[in-house]
Amino acid sequence: MKIYDGGKIFIGIVIFLSVATSPFLFNMGKATARPDPKLDTPEIQKMEKKQCVEPKEFMKAEHMTLLNDWRDSVVREGNKVYIGLGGEVYNMSLQGTCMKCHSNKKKFCDECHKYVAVKPYCWDCHIPPKEN
Ligand code: HEC
Ligand code: HEC
Ligand code: HEC
Repeated sequence: MKIYDGGKIFIGIVIFLSVATSPFLFNMGKATARPDPKLDTPEIQKMEKKQCVEPKEFMKAEHMTLLNDWRDSVVREGNKVYIGLGGEVYNMSLQGTCMKCHSNKKKFCDECHKYVAVKPYCWDCHIPPKEN
């Protein structure tokens, strides 16, 4: 009788645990699938005020357009100076500016691009940062 009850309780616990943990496991799977671009580069860690050339939400949505504008400005107009967020002055350069801060291309740019399946052809010519 005692053993039988113990078995019932044991089965009860197993069922309870599997039900209680399944939504948790489900969410964990989702969390790892979503891109998680990393900002922990030496250059960004050094920054007192951690900001991009423009506000984060703008960068998220418009960095491709911004890069196009930078290229046109440099190549067509010969202007390399960009005034960004808070009056910060930048040299308009993919390698020399963006990739100086975001030197973790794989864990940053590629992390998002793989998720949305875009493969910018920029690296056919521009040299990506050296990474392990
Ligand atoms: C001076 C260092 C620095 C430079 C230069 C820089 N970034 Fe950033 N970038 C950052 C930091 C810091 C953040 C996070 C900003 C925040 O959290 O507000 C960021 C955020 C971003 C984001 C949004 C990431 C996300 O998680 O949504 C994108 C996209 C991005 N940068 C692309 C670029 C591109 C493209 C360039 C060149 C045009 C560039 N960055 C130049 C430091 C930099
Ligand atoms: C927060 C996510 C995210 C990060 C971080 C990010 N990108 Fe993107 N990028 C995107 C998305 C999404 C697209 C596609 C946008 C579209 O098709 O409208 C894209 C598109 C682009 C394109 C245009 C490619 C094409 O074929 O149309 C370029 C160029 C680009 N990203 C450069 C960069 C560079 C360089 C970095 C790293 C410094 C970077 N991105 C970081 C999300 C990101
Ligand atoms: C066929 C080779 C080639 C490809 C592909 C290419 N570029 Fe360039 N890019 C150049 C050359 C050459 C320059 C001129 C360099 C200079 O004048 O300093 C340049 C200049 C630039 C500049 C301004 C100066 C600098 O040093 O960054 C930006 C920004 C830029 N390209 C962004 C991009 C982006 C973003 C992509 C991908 C969507 C891309 N390029 C693809 C060859 C290329």
